[in-house]
Amino acid sequence: MLAFCTYYYIRYRRFLSDTPPGPKPLPFLGNIFDIPTEKYWVVYNEWSKEYNSELISVRAFGQLTIIINSARAARELLGRRSSNYSDKPRLPMLELIGWDWNPGFMPYGERWRVRRRLLHRGLNVNAVATYYPVQVKHTKYFLAKLRRDPRSFVRHIKELTAGLTLDIAYALEDDACASDAHDGFQMLSDSLTPAAALVNAIPALKYVVEWLPMANYHAFAERSRQLCHRIRYDSLTKVKRQVADGTARPSLTLSMLNSSEGRDEEAVADVAGVIFGGESNTSTASAIHAGLQALALHPDVQRRAQAEIDAVVGRDRLPGHEDMPSLPYATAICREILRWHAVGPLGAPRAAIDDDVYDGWLIPAGSTILWNAWAISHDPETYPNPNAFIPERFLDENGQLNGKEEDTNFGYGRRECVGIHFAKATLWVTIASMLSIFNLFKAKDEQDNEIEISTERTTGLASHPVPFVCDIRVRDDNAEELLDSLTLAAEAES
Ligand code: HEM
Repeated sequence: MLAFCTYYYIRYRRFLSDTPPGPKPLPFLGNIFDIPTEKYWVVYNEWSKEYNSELISVRAFGQLTIIINSARAARELLGRRSSNYSDKPRLPMLELIGWDWNPGFMPYGERWRVRRRLLHRGLNVNAVATYYPVQVKHTKYFLAKLRRDPRSFVRHIKELTAGLTLDIAYALEDDACASDAHDGFQMLSDSLTPAAALVNAIPALKYVVEWLPMANYHAFAERSRQLCHRIRYDSLTKVKRQVADGTARPSLTLSMLNSSEGRDEEAVADVAGVIFGGESNTSTASAIHAGLQALALHPDVQRRAQAEIDAVVGRDRLPGHEDMPSLPYATAICREILRWHAVGPLGAPRAAIDDDVYDGWLIPAGSTILWNAWAISHDPETYPNPNAFIPERFLDENGQLNGKEEDTNFGYGRRECVGIHFAKATLWVTIASMLSIFNLFKAKDEQDNEIEISTERTTGLASHPVPFVCDIRVRDDNAEELLDSLTLAAEAES
């Protein structure tokens, strides 16, 4: 018995010394008392510096998680060695809350491949260009709502991204669905924080979790499962009914149903469901929200962008995707929003398939891998003064795009975000249109003092600006007239 224990103790010590450094783990419990519950991306970046290593390790209940903190290591491991890192960790919590249907969390294998193929077909760069008119239509709705009720900008952003994806995925329009999509994803996001690691580390807990003193967890999981079912099947059922009575309009779901893959109804439900209700619209909403915040904080950036838009587009129409090549400053703003804000600060979890070695450190098969997208996009070597919002970092001395692109926020390799082109086009047209119509300011209190805007972020799979107020006003009479004409045109179309 003593020899057995000694053997395993020596193996464990060697394992600890071969894997990337991190805070000293306790037996069995690992680092559960070290793992931060707030702004973990900042803490992991500090540990990376403290241990002088691009990779760091944290352990909980025998599960090793390796966090990549540099662009170099992320590109090498998740990009060039993608075949070893395209798997996903098994997270029992996902099953408990009904999110295991999401292709973004599926293990690497045939089930994921079928869905990825369908997603790629519907969201590749050429397919996305065919959705531009739908993006413009929803941007106009958004501008009209902003004019009517500027204080509720967060709700309008959520309705914009949910309405747009509902339209693309199913050719349906229904603002009420927006809350299902955002609430469902928020519940997923809350369940994947390090604090929820207990159930992921000890799968058996999912059977007893309702008796644990975790406030109302059973009700939480039940509501999440119901939302997931609604996200996947409510709109699909409507489209199938429309197909039956001959009223279905062109949509991604319709083209999937009409293809040979349409026989796999679960795959159709998963693909349309993840576009409408997955990370897609919450992540895009988070980027637009941060963009609006950055503009309110930087009147100088607004003025330069408006001068460019006015010169190229004029004042009697909105900027459209076709203007993108002539509006490099607007594009630089969008790149800077994604860099500055880092929507998913810790990327998305991956799992190592086989043992691997990087810079002399062992990455054992089965370990969970995260990349610190926030640290990578705030690396002062690549982005001097990283906390400042400076779109000019993406321009050359002639004001043209300099070819740099923030390249961590959409991931790497085979599991890179399949919605990247759609997301970038949505962000661009929303920000450019907003700039052409509105001025954004810090709001003032009753004593006429400016109300400061906090740049703190929420914690979660997708991070958002913490709530802030700002003042959004139509720029001038020209913009009022343009908005009036857009509203009239929209009424005539409907
Ligand atoms: C600013 C907006 C967005 C950001 C920052 C974002 C970011 C990400 C990230 C980091 C991943 C994981 C990539 C990896 O593991 O390497 C991902 C995966 C994914 N994203 Fe996005 N995303 C955004 C918008 C969208 C949109 C608009 C869609 C769809 C319309 C979408 C669909 C997906 C899907 C389906 C996956 C799973 C891919 C797979 O596992 O094969 N995303 N996204």
